[in-house]
Amino acid sequence: MHFLITAGPTHEYLDAVRYLTNPSSGRMGFAVARAARRRGHTVDLVTGPVLLRDPQGITVTRVVSALELRRATLAALGRADAVVMAAAVGDYRPARRVAGKLKKTGGAVTLALVENPDILREIGRKKGRRVIVGFAVEVQDAEANARRKLVAKGADLIVLNGPASFGAERAGFRLITAGGEVRELPDASKAALGTALVRWVERRAAAAGRGARE
Ligand code: CTP
Repeated sequence: MHFLITAGPTHEYLDAVRYLTNPSSGRMGFAVARAARRRGHTVDLVTGPVLLRDPQGITVTRVVSALELRRATLAALGRADAVVMAAAVGDYRPARRVAGKLKKTGGAVTLALVENPDILREIGRKKGRRVIVGFAVEVQDAEANARRKLVAKGADLIVLNGPASFGAERAGFRLITAGGEVRELPDASKAALGTALVRWVERRAAAAGRGARE
């Protein structure tokens, strides 16, 4: 199969030297990409700014902002049989990027932000027969919110995790499928979760019949 995987945070610049972001390390998406490669799949990995090296045998596209991540991901979608959206896409970007550097004025500053496009939702609308996996970071009403995201974004499976998972090597995860199954992984390494996700996608594609792209 051909996997399209996103990873890492996005940087939303407000001037030449400052940006909005989150603590994503890219480890989760890279782990899924390595697992898919190990199991013999071809992989396109689109990643925001991370300190990780390109995994061998994988086509890596490095981007900075959510808009760039969207462009690169949609450009690779045509080849994909499966999409795993592990990137922690920034929901907002500054309404405008100031040329040069914002200077201190001695008073309070208000930042105007605009919403970024929801890439997973867009992919969900163009799903075809692709298998789609999303992630949800939730704090309150975790499972109900994750299920809402699963349906709203057209995913087949959503990985629910908490903020402690950002940057960690292992964490607690709950896998929730559109078919209603729930699998709890209370303490899994990202490598193990990556393999479990790839295997789940393979089973799901096999059950649906191959030629997932159409
Ligand atoms: N996602 C995306 N594009 C965005 C925001 C999120 O594709 N602009 C994807 C993420 O890659 C993840 C899933 O949507 O797979 C859920 O992301 P999350 O941040 O938990 O959800 P949001 O839709 O941003 O909802 P909220 O922040 O309100 O909880």
